Amino acid sequence: MTEMSRVRNSMTRRRSDYLVSIVPASSSSVMRTTAMNGSRVATLVFGVCLCTTITVTTFQLQHKVNSYMNMGSRVYSSPNSDPIIAAAVLPQNNVFAKGGTQKLLTRHDIDFEQLLQQVGSETRQYYSLASTLNVTHDVQIEHMHIKNIGHRGSPYTALENTGRSFLHAAQAGADGVELDVFLLKCGTLVVFHGSGDDTNPGLLDSYCGVEGSILDYTAEEARRLLTFNKHYDEFGCGPDEITHPDDDDTNNHYCYIHTLEEVLVTLRDHPDVKPEFAIKIELKGPSTAAPTVELVRKLDMRHRCHYSSFDHSRIAEVRALDEHAITGALFGDYVPHNFSDIAISVGASEVHLKYDTATFERVRIAHRVGLNTMAWFRGPIGMKEDYLTRYFDVGNEDEEMYKTVLRSGVQSLCVNRPDVLAKALA
Ligand SMILES: *[C@@H]1O[C@H](CO)[C@@H](O)[C@H](O)[C@H]1NC(C)=O
Ligand SMILES: *[C@@H]1O[C@H](CO)[C@@H](O)[C@H](O)[C@H]1NC(C)=O
Repeated sequence: MTEMSRVRNSMTRRRSDYLVSIVPASSSSVMRTTAMNGSRVATLVFGVCLCTTITVTTFQLQHKVNSYMNMGSRVYSSPNSDPIIAAAVLPQNNVFAKGGTQKLLTRHDIDFEQLLQQVGSETRQYYSLASTLNVTHDVQIEHMHIKNIGHRGSPYTALENTGRSFLHAAQAGADGVELDVFLLKCGTLVVFHGSGDDTNPGLLDSYCGVEGSILDYTAEEARRLLTFNKHYDEFGCGPDEITHPDDDDTNNHYCYIHTLEEVLVTLRDHPDVKPEFAIKIELKGPSTAAPTVELVRKLDMRHRCHYSSFDHSRIAEVRALDEHAITGALFGDYVPHNFSDIAISVGASEVHLKYDTATFERVRIAHRVGLNTMAWFRGPIGMKEDYLTRYFDVGNEDEEMYKTVLRSGVQSLCVNRPDVLAKALA
């Protein structure tokens, strides 16, 4: 590594935020650093008058800093502050701005009033996903064999966790799907996500508009009685795609709670689904490990069904029942320092990291000890929240976002838009 690239790496491999205040110009272009809320804020004063009112807003620029430098624009940063504060002015005074759109704005495009309303008087901080993952370098992803896994199917084109959604993922060119299972009191496994956190999952309120949990039902009751809330934002496919049994075209009704067996048989037998299409079963509810392994064996699908859980004792249970099974230890926002030891200790063969914790370093650690890796994306509501409020350098699961995460070297992505990822990898 040359001295220059070492310097560049140490500059770019850092979580960075850029706060830029733009004020109308008085005379010539100057750059000042001022104190604000204990952090240092770069104040840019353009040499040309941009607007008549004083506008203070927040721009986040880090992701293009290197290219800005290469373009000969001026980049200011204060490397001793944490986060780094920097500002970039592009040629012709273009500014890269986060303003709901992800594009390079010319100064004529910037609606300062709108940005001001959006940011308000408080200074909002966004992060760069690329720097959070320590992946500011470029990687040729075309030559990697990335696995494209549809998260709960293809939830932006058909209701999540339904046969149709899984088929859409297969037809879009995904390599597999992820789905969630619960064991109901009648002894039947069903495919469902529900709201609630991972210690209390499967709640019906926002999903189906009734109190209680999926665990209160038999599979027969769940299929007959529960319908999906057409207007719940977690269903990225939108209300038109969500069917109810009393809709006009009842033959087309597919938005009911499916049994795991019916889903597995569909994926096994449908002509559009390749024989190697993977089915990654998240053991979401209690007591799911043994009956799921048994069902998979009964249907002769051991070679293509994989298991995962946030509850790592369920991975150990699967491992005891099937020594060859592919198993993934799931981690959420908090990733323990010894996550790879934890995964190995329960017999996992993969680690599944949340997309914004799948750092370059963690992926390398996992691969070094022989674990395979997958990065999982949150559901549609969670992703929208992250992209609007946390990360400025990505859209909501667009190609660029997927490519950013892939730069960590992770082998699989579990995404809500398998069709978009398939295009990105084509
Ligand atoms: C990112 O890289 C920097 C510099 O190489 C390192 O200090 C830091 O710990 C890394 N961050 C993560 C989250 O691994
Ligand atoms: C991981 O670290 C925690 C504490 O830091 C420790 O209690 C636990 O035993 C470790 N697990 C493994 C499998 O090494």
